[in-house]
Formats: sequence, structure tokens, C-alpha cells
Amino acid sequence: MRRCTLVGLLFCAVTALADSYDGAELYAMNCSNCHGIYGEGDGVVMPDLSTARLLDLRYLSERNNGVFPTRFVTDIVDGRETRAAHGPNAMPVWGAEFTRSEGLGEDAQARVSAKIDAIVTYLESIQILE
Ligand code: HEC
Repeated sequence: MRRCTLVGLLFCAVTALADSYDGAELYAMNCSNCHGIYGEGDGVVMPDLSTARLLDLRYLSERNNGVFPTRFVTDIVDGRETRAAHGPNAMPVWGAEFTRSEGLGEDAQARVSAKIDAIVTYLESIQILE
């Protein structure tokens, strides 16, 4: 049972919405063709991209001293704020992609965040720590 305090209400609303999306399914639909079904970085599209081999998405925590870098992953996946700083890259800007399908309104943007959160939570669940 989720406990929602008044202060946490907005957060709870967003996480409750994220629960309604299947991160694994969203990953399979939007990410696996480049990052591979298991995140290992050998999706079918990748040979067509001029970038070097992708980093394995199952070792994001391992590469970050054993801690899952939630903020980093969320920013990379959303992409709308980070791309300006990191320059052009070969990965779609999912914040913009999902906005295209959902819309710009407040509710639509909550759904965009919820989708991204669901994907990030899924990625956290597939981490391998050695
Ligand atoms: C068209 C191919 C493509 C698709 C589709 C794609 N990515 Fe990426 N992704 C890349 C490339 C290329 C990089 C690395 C270089 C860069 O930033 O351009 C990357 C980097 C990343 C990184 C950073 C990894 C690290 O350790 O630095 C994460 C996290 C990531 N992608 C997650 C996702 C998620 C989640 C999705 C689906 C919502 C997705 N990607 C869809 C091509 C793609």
C-alpha cells in the first residue's frame, strides 16, 4: 500500500502514474532496437549508426560505484535539457518523442514523465552488480 503524505502527494501521483506503464514493454518498443533486448548494446539498428559500440545498460550502477544513477539516466532518456549541453548525438530525445505522441498539456507532460520513470525503473531492475 502506497503511503501518500500531503507533501508527497504530487510525487505519489507521478509514481502511481508510472506504475500504470510497463517499463519493460516501453523499453522493448523504444530502446531495444539500438540497445539490444537485454540492454547489452547490440540492437539490430546499431550497425547502421556511426557511433562506437554502446555501453551495456545493465552495468550503469557498476559504472557508477554501485549506485544506480537515476538522475543521469532520466536526463539522458528525456534528453530535452541535456542535449544542449552534450551536443548532438545519435539517440532520440525521448522527452520530445513522447511529447509528440502525448501532447504539451500538464496531464500529457505528467504522462511523458511517467513513461520515462517507468523505463528508468525498469533499467534499475536489470542492473548487474559484480
Ligand atoms: C537510434 C538508436 C537509439 C535508441 C532507439 C535509443 N538509444 Fe540510448 N543511446 C544511443 C546511443 C548512440 C548512445 C550513446 C552515445 C550517445 O549519447 O549518442 C545512447 C546512450 C544511452 C544511455 C547512456 C549510457 C551510458 O552509460 O552513458 C542510456 C542510459 C540510454 N541510451 C538509454 C536509452 C533508453 C532507455 C532508450 C529507450 C527509451 C534508448 N536509449 C533508445 C542510441 C539509442
